[in-house]
Amino acid sequence: MEILGIDIGFGFTKATDGRNSLIFKSVIGEATDLQFHEPLYGGPVVGEHLQVEVDGKGYFIGELAERQSNVRFFTLDQAQFISDFARNLALAAAASMVKSHIPINLVSGLPIGYYKQYKDELARLLQGKHDVVLVDAEGNRHQKTININRVRILPQPFGSLFNFMLNDQGEVGERRLPKEKVGIIDVGFRTSDYTISDRMRYSERGSRTTDSGIARAFNVIAKKLREKSNVSVELYRLYEAVERGNIKIRGQEYDLKGLTEQVFGQLASTVASEVDRLWVDDWDIDTMILTGGGGAVLARHLQPLIKGHLMPVDATRDARLFNVQGYWKFGKHLWARGVMEEEKAAG
Ligand SMILES: Nc1ncnc2c1ncn2[C@@H]1O[C@H](COP(=O)(O)OP(=O)(O)OP(=O)(O)O)[C@@H](O)[C@H]1O
Ligand SMILES: [Mg+2]
Repeated sequence: MEILGIDIGFGFTKATDGRNSLIFKSVIGEATDLQFHEPLYGGPVVGEHLQVEVDGKGYFIGELAERQSNVRFFTLDQAQFISDFARNLALAAAASMVKSHIPINLVSGLPIGYYKQYKDELARLLQGKHDVVLVDAEGNRHQKTININRVRILPQPFGSLFNFMLNDQGEVGERRLPKEKVGIIDVGFRTSDYTISDRMRYSERGSRTTDSGIARAFNVIAKKLREKSNVSVELYRLYEAVERGNIKIRGQEYDLKGLTEQVFGQLASTVASEVDRLWVDDWDIDTMILTGGGGAVLARHLQPLIKGHLMPVDATRDARLFNVQGYWKFGKHLWARGVMEEEKAAG
């Protein structure tokens, strides 16, 4: 039995089996016949080749879809994300990480605000045996049966809490956090998720999902670029440009540094005031945890605005992975005994 964590985010799909992790943009495209698979010269290949066939249909996933698909799909709508994206993204991640037929116990998540509404549907979509063909960069087809034995869905920010609290054996390795009142701020691509763990009890009052994700800032940047260049840049093509501080459109370079500072600053104050309002009665929070890829990006702007003790953000680690690493540890916690029993039975 293999334990797998998969965080199907609006921006990125993340997966880990405790040894390796995988991260790709949550973009799906129609597969096309690639005439030529090699890079144009002996330089490094940018991004992984992730191509799958599910239910007889071929898809390019992530960066490959972005670069090669004529028709690309991307959404920021929760209902559509569940019905048209979640299964294919999760199966693409699972197919590239686990062996055929091996029973998998899977932990995944949903934004707090959609948890009740979609958790059974998401579990149903993922549970069971799925025949997937993984097509590698040379065009070789690998038939795989993804066997998802059990599924557990968590509210997304709990992943980060478990990541800080549990060790790789799934045991409580951190003595302080379980005894404290902890506020978790998970800034993702579309959503900001807030929740409170009060000595390990969930607080409904302190939990909410809002639209204050990085996409909101990217929308402003895309709008400005459209005004200047007449080109609508898809939001998922902005990550690298924003990180770099400039973008070239039809030969013209546009500087993004000043605008990015401004929109990230605005987004950070929105997040900070959402925290203030949501946790107005929870002035006894001991520690706040800032997580998600957006959390890392906004940390510099947010830190001075947050009233309370914010756990320092470790800039050497990729905060996009914090939820999924916690899902995996929680899976260990839930099913570790099962593993030992199975191993004993296997001799
Ligand atoms: N190395 C990186 N590459 C791309 N984006 C990064 C990187 N590091 C941080 N980011 C930021 O991470 C954000 C995505 O974070 P994350 O993966 O947590 O979102 P998500 O889980 O996909 O979204 P949501 O929680 O709304 O579904 C991007 O918007 C970007 O600002
Ligand atoms: Mg997320």
